[in-house]
Amino acid sequence: MEKRLKRIRQYDDIFVHSDTLTCTLSGCVPCLYKINPSGLWFDEENDNYLIVKENQRPEMCPRSNSSTYRGLYNQRMNILTLGDGDFSFSLSICKGLKPKYAKHLVSTSYESYKTVRSTYLSAHEHILELQSLGSQVLHNVDACQLSEGNLPEFKFDRVVWNFPCVAAQNGLDGQATELQLNIDMMKSFFQNVGNVLKQLPDSGSEEASYPSEVHITHKTIEPFSWWHMEDIAKSQGFALIGKIVFDRLALQFIVF
Ligand SMILES: C[S@@+](CC[C@H](N)C(=O)[O-])C[C@H]1O[C@@H](n2cnc3c(N)ncnc32)[C@H](O)[C@@H]1O
Repeated sequence: MEKRLKRIRQYDDIFVHSDTLTCTLSGCVPCLYKINPSGLWFDEENDNYLIVKENQRPEMCPRSNSSTYRGLYNQRMNILTLGDGDFSFSLSICKGLKPKYAKHLVSTSYESYKTVRSTYLSAHEHILELQSLGSQVLHNVDACQLSEGNLPEFKFDRVVWNFPCVAAQNGLDGQATELQLNIDMMKSFFQNVGNVLKQLPDSGSEEASYPSEVHITHKTIEPFSWWHMEDIAKSQGFALIGKIVFDRLALQFIVF
């Protein structure tokens, strides 16, 4: 219990999507863990005693069967996804767009098509579906070398990278031992991403309330917290707008 108490999240600078919160309050354990990684829960029957619920697979969330995704994206936006894995994330965004706007979504992987396909069993199917919906799918896109030369000509309102991590050998992701490599990669990314973001609009323009954003999903426990992601972004001139508990069903992200 003491160990778990230490894992209570600091709530003063993080938002929770209303779907995640509502789900938690109706008893969903995977959502409880998203909000509170300690699993502590108020036991109403015994009034003020805290109990620990054991975590459950994400599929136990009653929303996991829903094909309706809500979140931070809409069809007015040009959206670039980076470092996707099996392309299910890009596909979920794409399905939320009206068909004629699917071409505004550019979905990319760092790896070649061949590597993606051999690493993720479902990738091929997801890529085909994305393409049939009209989204552009690109491979070998390096988030640290973004330029108009290797992407479609338009610029983006949203650039999204979920769980960035340097690639280690055997298809694994680099962890603590690659700390400096990860930091350097993110620094390079934030140095480059401005090349493909739409210009921030003038305060007087129609789009004034609609500036470009970079969304990074990142774990907050050690060793991931050692990256100091916010400091990296700030060092490259980005301001933190907010942090949101990640919920793949609500598509929420850390927002710069
Ligand atoms: C932990 S995986 C996350 C995969 C996927 N985004 C997800 O959320 O399941 C890290 C991803 O970062 C990608 N990556 C590593 N270096 C990259 C780079 N320089 N540019 C773009 N993606 C990169 C890897 O290919 C891998 O897909």
